[in-house]
Amino acid sequence: MPSETATTTADPAFSLENIHISDADLPPFTDMPFEDIEELHLDHPGANDAEYRTRRDYIASLSKNFRETGIITDVDYNEDEQGIWRHVTTRLEALHEKYASPFYLQAKRDLGISTDRIPQLSEMSRRLKELTNFRLAPIEGLVDTRAFLSWLSWRTMLSTQYIRHHSRPEYTPEPDIVHEAIGHIPMFTNQNFADYSQFIGHGARIATDKQIEELGRLYWFTVEFGLVEDKGEIKAYGAGLLSSFGELEHAFSDEVERRPFDLEEVINTSYDYSDMQPLLYVIPSYAELKEVTRRYISHFNG
Ligand SMILES: [Fe+2]
Repeated sequence: MPSETATTTADPAFSLENIHISDADLPPFTDMPFEDIEELHLDHPGANDAEYRTRRDYIASLSKNFRETGIITDVDYNEDEQGIWRHVTTRLEALHEKYASPFYLQAKRDLGISTDRIPQLSEMSRRLKELTNFRLAPIEGLVDTRAFLSWLSWRTMLSTQYIRHHSRPEYTPEPDIVHEAIGHIPMFTNQNFADYSQFIGHGARIATDKQIEELGRLYWFTVEFGLVEDKGEIKAYGAGLLSSFGELEHAFSDEVERRPFDLEEVINTSYDYSDMQPLLYVIPSYAELKEVTRRYISHFNG
């Protein structure tokens, strides 16, 4: 998920209808304005674990290399890291069967994401490209909202590679490979969701600062915490739900208000990322989400 500050990288030349992006269209990754990438916070469970910090920094350095070479380096995850993955994803799997959108469940299988081992960004990116022409680009931490969202306009998702600290496997204050591969990446195999993401990215490139804030809320209430109707039931497709035991069960409890999605309302509704979400929005379909967003973005002036 993006952090909360914004910079400007507007490019009004991008056409909203141009959703066919090829490798040749991509700006050089070396141009990424990433001087503001967030380092490990002091409240991170691994902040005082020197061994963890060294390992996290090493994996982050592989992501940094990507910006010079454009090539994703696979991480040789060690047995401890594989153990964290197995522990977290096995527990989530049972909840997914109950609460996740059927599309998501199929997508995980299509991408070969299992509880057995941590998937590599390179293999998932290759498969995404075949399915919906989406790509993954490694990144070593949180970047500002405009930069993060803007890359979606090139059908590219920035993704971390390191994994959370073993002391609190159920929790991470920053995105990690569990959040990315279990939460975000499967949904990009959906053509409508992928196009929707690209529209958000397009909007981010030409948005005013106020509109960036609106897009951040739209992203939050859909890509991170979205619910979708499915055959008369409500299911989860948001990454913040699908990658968190606590949030996923909470989302379907009586403590949460689940409202029908209304774009105008969503872009004007603030959220608190430090607490469980009391309000969620249910989209009728990914196609509908894409269409209302296309109409909304088409009013941005650039
Ligand atoms: Fe996220």
